[in-house]
Amino acid sequence: MAYSFDDECDFLFKAILIGDSAVGKSNLLTRFARDHFRLDSKPTIGVEFAYRNIKIGDKVIKAQIWDTAGQERFRAITSSYYRGARGALLVYDITRRSTFDNLAKWLREIREFGDSDMVILMVGNKTDLGHAREISEEEGQRLAEKEGLCFMETSALENLNVEEAFLQLITRIHEVTSKKNLEAKANQVRTTTPSVGNSILNLDEVSATKHTGCCSW
Ligand code: GTP
Ligand code: MG
Repeated sequence: MAYSFDDECDFLFKAILIGDSAVGKSNLLTRFARDHFRLDSKPTIGVEFAYRNIKIGDKVIKAQIWDTAGQERFRAITSSYYRGARGALLVYDITRRSTFDNLAKWLREIREFGDSDMVILMVGNKTDLGHAREISEEEGQRLAEKEGLCFMETSALENLNVEEAFLQLITRIHEVTSKKNLEAKANQVRTTTPSVGNSILNLDEVSATKHTGCCSW
């Protein structure tokens, strides 16, 4: 499914992929954006992007996904990755415990540079390598619950749960953003018209959140 940047859309959401090198971030993204997988993919240098349009209800959302380098030496200006990002896929490799242990480091970075209401989905990738598994699904789930994150296991190679992971992330971003915009609008009404009573309940969510001049910040 290919879309150009100029396609009509109602919302544009930026999300980022983070996690250690070789956990499969780039392949998760190419699988989602182009249904493509490479066994011999090269480490990402700096950052790469992909877009895909998604329909939620009657709204078209353009997801702009930033695929960042896991290797420290290939990372550029970290703060720029997080600027404007509303969600993150935090990826580890279920066959390498070090990538799971390092999630704490990535979470510190998210909390330092990301917005406090950023949606974070923790992803254990490479479930096709079950025989080499070092982190059980239960252990992943436990950590996600402890940290207050959503959780899913995927296989970019076998195309298992990849679409679901991105859709869950984007749907959650949409919910959080709509709620935030609605609250902001309600506060605005409250401060400008002191006795509006129940009229706040009649606010139209769409008019409260819709971008005009689609796909621009
Ligand atoms: P950096 O760009 O260095 O941060 O790495 P990355 O996280 O983007 O990893 P990448 O997608 O390049 O994948 C690294 C290696 O893991 C490649 O050899 C992929 O083919 C392989 N790989 C990625 N996803 C899967 C998967 O689901 N299963 C298996 N078996 N291999 C995978
Ligand atoms: Mg990569």
